[in-house]
Amino acid sequence: MTSLSSSSRWSDADLGRTQVRGTHRVDLRPTGRDVFADARPIDFSRLSWREVGRPFRVENWSRDRRAWEAEHDESLPVPLAWRMFNRSFQSLFDTDPVRARVAALREAGLRLSALQVKAAYAALSEVARWTVWNQAHRVGDTVWDPRAKRSLFHGLDVKRPRILFLGAAEGYEAMLLSAMYPGGEVVLVDYDEYCVTGRFGAFPTDYPFLGADPATGAPRVWHRDEMDVSYLVSDIRDLDFGREFDIVVSIGLVEHFPDQYKPMAFDWHRRFLRPGGYAILTTPRVALRTKAFYRLFGDLMNFSYRELQNVAQLGLYAHENGFEVLRHGEIKSHNGIVCRAR
Ligand SMILES: C[S@@+](CC[C@H](N)C(=O)[O-])C[C@H]1O[C@@H](n2cnc3c(N)ncnc32)[C@H](O)[C@@H]1O
Repeated sequence: MTSLSSSSRWSDADLGRTQVRGTHRVDLRPTGRDVFADARPIDFSRLSWREVGRPFRVENWSRDRRAWEAEHDESLPVPLAWRMFNRSFQSLFDTDPVRARVAALREAGLRLSALQVKAAYAALSEVARWTVWNQAHRVGDTVWDPRAKRSLFHGLDVKRPRILFLGAAEGYEAMLLSAMYPGGEVVLVDYDEYCVTGRFGAFPTDYPFLGADPATGAPRVWHRDEMDVSYLVSDIRDLDFGREFDIVVSIGLVEHFPDQYKPMAFDWHRRFLRPGGYAILTTPRVALRTKAFYRLFGDLMNFSYRELQNVAQLGLYAHENGFEVLRHGEIKSHNGIVCRAR
């Protein structure tokens, strides 16, 4: 149901509504079914790598990475790769893709009429990227994906939780969790300081999160300025928290670590969890659609090691690294698991 609200800041009167705005969708429709309860059961303790195979590696590197490496004659350092990624990825969120597509089409026409074939090809690639981004993010909401993520986050046994988001970038999922389990505290951690203003800071203040009223448990709309969120610019390896968080979450983090570093990456999710706390992880799914996406968006996205996984592979990594997988399943473009330390 698309509605024509005069105000962009929605309230409880807007529960049940969705609307496509200039750069993104807002969506307060309740989640219909629990896709995680419906997922095919998997006993991760009995799975083997022979059965599930190894993840797919994305290796079409961005032009900027290749140029940096050619100039410096060494591999692009990982923190710098993330700085490049965050600026580049955020430029997609900041742009109205329909207007950008029209501008790229006009450019392609001009270049073609001047017989500038290479420039026309570049402009047509831009047209393709904005067309796909418009559908993937603004219309299809496959990146923020609040409805499926609410399903993933459903049913946690927590009250006023302290939530730690590792590699938080814009912090979206911690805000969604904070709306669903209100009254606690969110700590976002990322070592790219650009994220504080350029990603989290750029996230729309009028974006409505569907959550709960702490007094009654009834559905309620939350906005980021009603939440207790702090941003820590730090390498995760330097954090000195104790086992104090009810939820530790990461979105698209562990697939950036080759297998020899996976134990370290999973340990980050256990180290700061209070006993009985939840680790929630998602990684991009291996599918024709995601492979095509990372091919088309290689220049904008592919700065460092990246795997595409299936949910069995993600769950097996978690199991091997000391977690019990409580819920697993697929959301729009990612796999998701909810775990506890064993
Ligand atoms: C792929 S992004 C997460 C995806 C995110 N949801 C987004 O929309 O871009 C991973 C984030 O983790 C951060 N990161 C990677 N390694 C880190 C580390 N060792 N310490 C702190 N942050 C780290 C990067 O700077 C980056 O912002």
